[in-house]
Amino acid sequence: RVAYVNGVYQRHSEATIHVEDRGFQFADGVYEVWSVFDGRMADFEGHMTRLHRSLNELRIDIPMSVEALTRVLKETIRRNRVRNGIVYLQVTRGTARRDHPFPAPGTPPSVIVTSKSLSAAKSDATAANGVAVVTHPDIRWGRCDIKTVGLLPNVLAKQAARDKGAYEAWMVDEMGLVTEGSSTNAWIVDKHGKLRTRDTQANILKGITRTAIMTMIEEEGIELDERPFSVDEAKEAKEAFFTAAGAFVMPAVSIDGVKIGDGKPGPIATRLRARYIEEAK
Ligand code: PDD
Repeated sequence: RVAYVNGVYQRHSEATIHVEDRGFQFADGVYEVWSVFDGRMADFEGHMTRLHRSLNELRIDIPMSVEALTRVLKETIRRNRVRNGIVYLQVTRGTARRDHPFPAPGTPPSVIVTSKSLSAAKSDATAANGVAVVTHPDIRWGRCDIKTVGLLPNVLAKQAARDKGAYEAWMVDEMGLVTEGSSTNAWIVDKHGKLRTRDTQANILKGITRTAIMTMIEEEGIELDERPFSVDEAKEAKEAFFTAAGAFVMPAVSIDGVKIGDGKPGPIATRLRARYIEEAK
């Protein structure tokens, strides 16, 4: 395997960044993850646009042109012989002696790219059975719209889920409303049959997969109510699922041990998943 690090393709096992990298010191950086289908990146522009938004919000310099970055992403996928999987891009504010304020102007951002294969068969098998979700308090900061590498609350939430034998954690605000998954956006088909997902004016990441699915929902003539839902509403829902690059659309069949619907992946989630994969190819 190979990783791109600041202009050089290195052996993955030996690829390193400096100890004073601000990503390492302060989580002062942003990232993107693209799904790779048949060697091609899905929702390419959406992720690229969000990357630039994240960089802009944090005043990190744009490290290179979109064309150059695209070449690096494609080359990393090619060199790792990834047909199906993901490609990961991280940009940090660069390397400078540890001090909280931004480093001197002109300090080049660090750029790393990795890519790995994921088994489509395994993902499909997981989706066919559906997965368990548990809820967890959302203890994150006020700028969850920015895709930063500061993910400790997400890591703790995901691990809490895994410790309970669940696949994903849905984070919950003080009002008892679900914000989003630890690395996914959360959706339900409520007991009235309405498709619900939290609006992005609230403090969540505007998922690129979420946006893609919304287009499909409109085309399918399914009504969407873009409004937060509570944990109680989720437990009474007909269907539950979550979306993200790498996971696509993943049906959830239980929340905190409470069976959702008949305990099997629901028809809307199953349909949207199939369509998303079909269209991404
Ligand atoms: N996570 N919400 C959070 C907190 C996320 O970290 C992600 C993505 C999403 C879904 O966004 P998208 O559809 O653009 O992938 C929502 C990536 C996959 C990760 O951290 O690995």
